[in-house]
Formats: sequence, structure tokens, C-alpha cells
Amino acid sequence: MLGPDTPVRLNLLEIPQGLRAAEGAALELQDAAFPLLSHVDVTADPASAFTGANVALLVGARPRTAGMERGDLLEANGGIFGPQGRAINDHAADDVRVVAVGNPANTNALIAASHAPDVPRERFTALTRLDHNRALGQLAPAVDTPVGGIRGVTIWGNHSATQYPDVAHATADGAPVPALLAARLGGADAARAWLADEFVPRVARRGAEVIEVRGSSSVASAASATIDHVHDWVLGTGDRGWTSAAIWSHGEYGVAEGVISSFPVVSEGGEWHVVEGLEIDEFARTRIDASVAELVDERETVRARGLV
Ligand code: LMR
Repeated sequence: MLGPDTPVRLNLLEIPQGLRAAEGAALELQDAAFPLLSHVDVTADPASAFTGANVALLVGARPRTAGMERGDLLEANGGIFGPQGRAINDHAADDVRVVAVGNPANTNALIAASHAPDVPRERFTALTRLDHNRALGQLAPAVDTPVGGIRGVTIWGNHSATQYPDVAHATADGAPVPALLAARLGGADAARAWLADEFVPRVARRGAEVIEVRGSSSVASAASATIDHVHDWVLGTGDRGWTSAAIWSHGEYGVAEGVISSFPVVSEGGEWHVVEGLEIDEFARTRIDASVAELVDERETVRARGLV
């Protein structure tokens, strides 16, 4: 995650009921003899878990259960991400970087950030690299190019079904993806229809598809994407072009300020930067606005409940 020479010391934070299982996970981590894993601690105490932390992966969240309204879900998660934000504020290292993975990830990151007034808010992010990687995985066979040859894909907005996976600026082995799709599918209209009716909903609902097929939420792909996110944040995106991450909005591309929204980003000098100057067509504008409206709505809900 942090490069081939950086050892990792893991602090696993669990709720008291989960401690035994976390201790079991620690046994397995030891047995895997990872050369870069120097130590594993298991605790139910956020203060001790976050003491000196350089990277905080906020993976655990309260899942939605039958009969639960969205506001209730946000409130239940406020009870997790608020105290974790406070513990990060009080105990983490000065260079701490935070990524919220547990859902609703963007607003959970916002809640954590608002409980950590001493930590720059740009250090609180949410995971949309999973959606980004899913988009690459769907696009690769459609343009008959390995995922490594695809550049310029963007996930905009919320890590939810409203997100907008955008390939308008994508290239495959240097060739524009929209033109490749048009050539393969029989014209620009057919390409637009495939994107709107198949690609976008498939990527945006992939989490639900995984849950339906395997019976529980994604694990390996989410873990892998989390590692990608932190790796690129710390070590830089280099010449691999941009990726997607949900970061604090300063109003770029007309996204409301003060929500944690996914953007096209590069990482340089250990910081995410939004890629500037991309043209946004009318379809993209509508989709981005809809996802950002959902983020604003989530923010209003948690504000009304005193969570931010
Ligand atoms: C995913 O995208 O796989 C998850 O966010 C889905 C979920 O609701 O856990």
C-alpha cells in the first residue's frame, strides 16, 4: 500500500462484540508472514487505535437493515464516524490521511471531518476508486483493450446509484473511447445508448449486483481499491493519468462546496488535485448535478440531526 520499502503497523479497531473475530484476523495476518507487516494490535478503544496513525481506513459502518430510513442510517453512522473523527483529531499523526469506505461513505467522511477541526479537511476522503475500477473492468471488453491501456475515466458525485461514471474523455491505447464504441456498436447514437442504458447503470449498481450474487457486500475488490487509493495518494499518480476519489469540494465543476464528492483527480506531493478544464456535456451535467444534489441532501439530513 505504501510502496515496497515501507513497513506497516496495523491497529485494528473493533466494537467489543467483534474483538474476538478481529483477534482471529490478526492470527491470520501473522500466519501470512507478510514481509512488510511489522505488527498487528487489536483494540476496541478508538483513542488507542488512532494514536500516531498516518493512514486511517474507516471500513466499518452500520449497514442498512429492513425498515431503516436513510436518515436513520445516516444517524446510526454518525454515532460511529463522529467519535472516530474526534479520536483522529486528538490522537493521529500530523500527516494523517483518512479514507471512508463504509457506507454512506461520502457523508461518513464528512461527519468524521467535521469532528476533526484540527485536521485539514482535504485529508478526509471517501472511496470511489472501487467504482473507478469497476468502470475500467466494464469498459475493457467493450473496447477490446486491457484495463492497463485505458485512461481518463471519471467517477463523479456520490458512491451510490446516482454516481456518474464518465468516459467522455477516456482513451484506450490512446484512441478516444467514444469513437471506439461508436465504431464497434454501429454509430454514435448506439454508443450513447449503450453508455446510458448499460454501462452507467451497471457500474453504478455493481455493489448491489455483488450483494445479490454472492450474498454479501464486496470485500476483495473494495480492499484492493482502498489500497489503490492510499497508494496513489501517498506515492502519486505519476504518468498513469487521473483516477477518481471523493474529496472535499471547493466548488470545482459547479459541485456544491463543502460536500465530499468524487472528481477526476491526480495526486502530486502527497495531495489530491482536481483535474481542471474538462468539458462537461449536457448529459454529464444533468447526471453530476443529480448525484451532487443527493450529497447535499445527505448533508442537510446529518446537519438537521446535529451530526456535522
Ligand atoms: C459496494 O459498492 O460494493 C458497496 O458500497 C455496496 C454496499 O452497499 O455495501
